[in-house]
Amino acid sequence: MNKPLCRISGQPLTKVVDLGRQPMGNGFLLPEQFSSEYFYPMEAGFCETSMMFQLIEQPAPEQMFHEQYAFYSSTSRFMEQHFAEFAQQVMQSGYLAKSDPFVVELGCNDGIMLKNFAQAGMRHLGIEPSRNVAEVANAQGVRTLSEFFAEDVAEQIVRTDGQADAFIAANVMCHIPDIQGVVKGIRTLLKPTGVVMFEDPYLGDVIEKISYDQIYDEHVFLFSAHSIQYLFNLHGMELIDVQPQKTHGGSMRYVLAHAGAYPVKETVAQLLQQELSIGLHRLSSYQTFSKNVEQSRSDLVNLLRDLKSQGKRIAGYGATSKSTTILNYCGIGSELIEYISDTTPIKQGKFTPGVHIPVRPYEDFKANPPDYAVLFAWNHAEEIMAKEKAFMDAGGRWIVHVPKVQVL
Ligand code: SAH
Ligand code: TMP
Repeated sequence: MNKPLCRISGQPLTKVVDLGRQPMGNGFLLPEQFSSEYFYPMEAGFCETSMMFQLIEQPAPEQMFHEQYAFYSSTSRFMEQHFAEFAQQVMQSGYLAKSDPFVVELGCNDGIMLKNFAQAGMRHLGIEPSRNVAEVANAQGVRTLSEFFAEDVAEQIVRTDGQADAFIAANVMCHIPDIQGVVKGIRTLLKPTGVVMFEDPYLGDVIEKISYDQIYDEHVFLFSAHSIQYLFNLHGMELIDVQPQKTHGGSMRYVLAHAGAYPVKETVAQLLQQELSIGLHRLSSYQTFSKNVEQSRSDLVNLLRDLKSQGKRIAGYGATSKSTTILNYCGIGSELIEYISDTTPIKQGKFTPGVHIPVRPYEDFKANPPDYAVLFAWNHAEEIMAKEKAFMDAGGRWIVHVPKVQVL
């Protein structure tokens, strides 16, 4: 095979992490589909020029985002609140035109964020290729186009709606392999005074917390301020602000504009400096990360085997796409984890990708709680722990793997 190249700089990538053969992160399936399940080698590489951390191989976007997409954003109350605040920040940012501003959201899913703009009577448009979730958005009055965003879609929007004041996105920019096409599209779509505000899981948090489960098929990139600045600079745009977020185990919100349109806030230089001080530019940091990931795997497997040998019952909480990475990398199946509880109807009654653990409705967890629950939705820990007092009061214990494998 030819040496893989960075999707941003075109320079050779150095392979830094190997998480083995993996199925689709959100590919929950039925027994009749087991024999035709898709797998690919999940390895990540790093480019010292663009500083972009990225998957070497990724399944095609159409294989991941379609009319049966399993992730519905509005399953979390905490995220609803978070996106209401994000929307308020955009509306009050001072970056929008005073009269008739237009906001475009990439990957709006079921409308969790954009509904705030719709309710405020603001002109908006969501771009969402997964038709099932786009339909939910449209049904609640969020104007949504079911397409993969790219340059041609941007041109089409400019023709029908004009240029945008704000281009917003959450947990989707890092999903798109043709990110250069997306940035070109943004440049076309955005007014000269327009801004881009998007957030994604932050590479610095992943390395620090050893949250290797943020690496899965959809996450073709894990961004940092350095890699975002490099990418947008290639297209005449610049980073003007960064704002760390608590969501998804540590995310970063990036604010960008056409070069020279706005002053650059001090937060940008501060974060760039911090990234250098934790070594995000050095290959050796990723090699250390890879060793930490191997240690995390043996700690988790040993803990689960030990509990099982004591006759304890173990279930999972949250059939996340992140859990697909952990379960397949660690080789954990239903011999260790009886079932995984999840509130998403489309996942219930199916089996987890690759290792085929049953996914059961949350009601089953409540009716027949295990001794231990592996908190696969650890990024929603605050929300979940607050509502699972009864489980804990009855002696139920949580197992987490971030920032280290432990029983809480
Ligand atoms: N913004 C939501 C959804 C994140 S999941 C949230 O933070 O909860 C990522 C979403 O991006 C999925 O709904 C997926 O269908 C969509 N998506 C993937 N590729 C896309 C593309 N090229 N253009 C627009 N949306 C895309
Ligand atoms: P995420 O970590 O990618 O956001 O996915 C969270 C998954 O966990 C999603 O499938 C919904 C599920 N979930 C629950 O089952 N119960 C909960 O309380 C929350 C917040 C999420």
